[in-house]
Amino acid sequence: MFAAVSGVLVLHDMPCSAGHPELAEAAASPLLTPSTADAPVAPVPLEMRLEALPRHAPEPPNNRSSPAKIVLGRMLFFDPILSATREVACATCHHPSLGWTDQRATPIGVGAAGLGPERIIRRATGLPVPRRNTPTLLNVAFNGLVAGVKANPAGAPMFWDSRARSLESQALVPIQSPSEMLGERAERITALPAAVERLVKIPGYRRSFRLAFPAGTGEAITPANIGRAIAAFERMLTTPDTPFDRFLRGATNALTDLQKRGLRVFSESGCVQCHGGPMLSDFKPHFIGAPDSGPDSRVPLRTPTLRNLKHTAPYMHNGRLRTLNDVFTFYEQLMDSVSETLDGGDDTAQPPLDPLLKHLTLSPEDFPALEAFLDSLNAVDYDATVPATVPSGLPVAGVDASD
Ligand code: HEC
Ligand code: HEC
Repeated sequence: MFAAVSGVLVLHDMPCSAGHPELAEAAASPLLTPSTADAPVAPVPLEMRLEALPRHAPEPPNNRSSPAKIVLGRMLFFDPILSATREVACATCHHPSLGWTDQRATPIGVGAAGLGPERIIRRATGLPVPRRNTPTLLNVAFNGLVAGVKANPAGAPMFWDSRARSLESQALVPIQSPSEMLGERAERITALPAAVERLVKIPGYRRSFRLAFPAGTGEAITPANIGRAIAAFERMLTTPDTPFDRFLRGATNALTDLQKRGLRVFSESGCVQCHGGPMLSDFKPHFIGAPDSGPDSRVPLRTPTLRNLKHTAPYMHNGRLRTLNDVFTFYEQLMDSVSETLDGGDDTAQPPLDPLLKHLTLSPEDFPALEAFLDSLNAVDYDATVPATVPSGLPVAGVDASD
């Protein structure tokens, strides 16, 4: 329904758009039609074309998925056995009942008990606390995907600063991170071999690794295969059927009138310059000056996806903004600092605010429509099941029923 012509969104192939005055109106908006030289909004690059999410996540050639790999990946994901202290699983921070995140501003790893907002520190570890908000794993398998460019799962950017590439290599990072899963007593350098040793002792894992990796010679339990199995599981956590995806695939009434108005606000306010493409992210670093007094206060960070925001509050890299309304207010107030810092005057912000922010135009009366539009990117039917047990016999997701 939307397609890009000379870098901007247009409406075409519209089934009887005559019967849909709101679409005729949408077509008349500057961003949905080819822009003229004096159009008030900047032309949007082709990759930022809004598109439905593909139904299946791309896989790298050296990690084709299989049911056995996914089953194994799921066990590993929920099993605190990967943690040297046997306290923390991936699911401790990325829990399905909490939108595959922890719904905290910043997470707590080792030395704590409880889940999500209720998690509390039980033991002083002396380790630095994690400073960044936990992203959802819903659709993380599409990280890096923009419109019209072939997906490259082997190079998919991971983390707020994109410092890891691919789900396979990302999965090995938290196992080696002292404050997340390793703890204060184990050595980083032996974290992965020690995790392998723990798995080899458990018959359930010996069997499951052989089933998942039948072709290899020698021991199937290796760090690389741990990463591959977890990645195969994460590729199942997708939400390609939200109301907005259905709208983009041609179901014109999948969005309410307010949501359609919100879509226009979203495009015309300049949000789509960075939050575009099928993931509503360009996956590029930008400095937008989100509130932060810590070491991240001057670091350009990757545009986050805007899918499933309903499940992932609080927002921003440090979870400083509690609600979407707080985020909108932040952007609205940002417009003033942008004109001060980018259009002459005070340019003391280091690094300077991203020049794309110059095109922001947002006013409080647009907030409800914008919020309604973002709601059309929420899925309600994603996989939220939790296994009853894990092969190590440890508490599933690292959360003891007595916590
Ligand atoms: C202590 C909490 C915690 C644990 C345990 C944890 N994570 Fe995370 N995860 C985070 C945080 C925080 C980030 C963002 C960190 C950053 O950007 O620097 C993150 C980022 C990620 C990302 C990248 C998301 C994106 O969009 O860039 C993936 C994928 C991921 N974690 C998967 C896992 C897997 C797999 C495990 C288990 C092996 C795991 N995590 C264990 C908190 C945790
Ligand atoms: C210059 C690129 C850019 C533009 C334009 C932009 N954003 Fe963002 N957006 C970002 C970046 C980068 C972050 C993360 C910043 C951080 O956490 O420090 C972000 C964060 C967000 C978040 C929080 C998401 C989360 O999971 O924490 C929301 C919601 C959001 N933006 C909505 C919008 C809306 C609505 C607009 C238009 C009014 C907009 N953005 C315009 C780059 C941009």
